[in-house]
Amino acid sequence: MNLRNLTVVEHPLIKHKLTIMRSKDTGPKEFRELLKEITQLLTYEATRNLPTIKVEIETPIQHTIGEMVEDKKITIVPILRAGLGMMDGILSLVPNASIGFLGIYRDPESLKPVEYYLKFPPFSENHYVFIVDPMLATGFSIRYAIKKVKEFGVKNIIVMSLLAAPEGVKNIEEEYPDVKIFTAALDEKLNDHAYIIPGLGDAGDRLFRTK
Ligand code: URA
Repeated sequence: MNLRNLTVVEHPLIKHKLTIMRSKDTGPKEFRELLKEITQLLTYEATRNLPTIKVEIETPIQHTIGEMVEDKKITIVPILRAGLGMMDGILSLVPNASIGFLGIYRDPESLKPVEYYLKFPPFSENHYVFIVDPMLATGFSIRYAIKKVKEFGVKNIIVMSLLAAPEGVKNIEEEYPDVKIFTAALDEKLNDHAYIIPGLGDAGDRLFRTK
């Protein structure tokens, strides 16, 4: 399968942390901490092509020109609720980003996304939006989120997930070939209930201890 828009961020630390997360014996405290840490490592790669602007500063020795990211033009959109588990990881590296919330649940019959909450900040020209959801399974929720963000005129959209299934990546790529996806691992496939195999179970339940 040729997945052109996907970057699997390969790193021994990511593999190590992800293996602990996958284990059914890992509890919520460690699960949350590891999701934050892996998100930080993903963010490093996913932000690599952000533009910088030149700024004049004085060092203790002399005047110089530095480069900075325009963080007021960056918005993180966690898909509620599991996406919240990735929010602090990005914010620790891009602390002035704005946050846009999008609540979507998956209809258990059709597996299609149903929106129940949307609150986006104003987007400026050349805005960058990072949509985050730990589990890119069927891809329908993320596709829906991309559609919503595009309706506000945003052109630069990046998706970050912890795990991805090939079916979901393909689904997004077919509709939005311009959107880049960064993930920590591309798993084998989806099972009949649209869970990622081998996966790590229900990310929301493990994050928020709801089972
Ligand atoms: N959502 C999850 O939390 N886990 C999966 O495996 C798929 C979707």
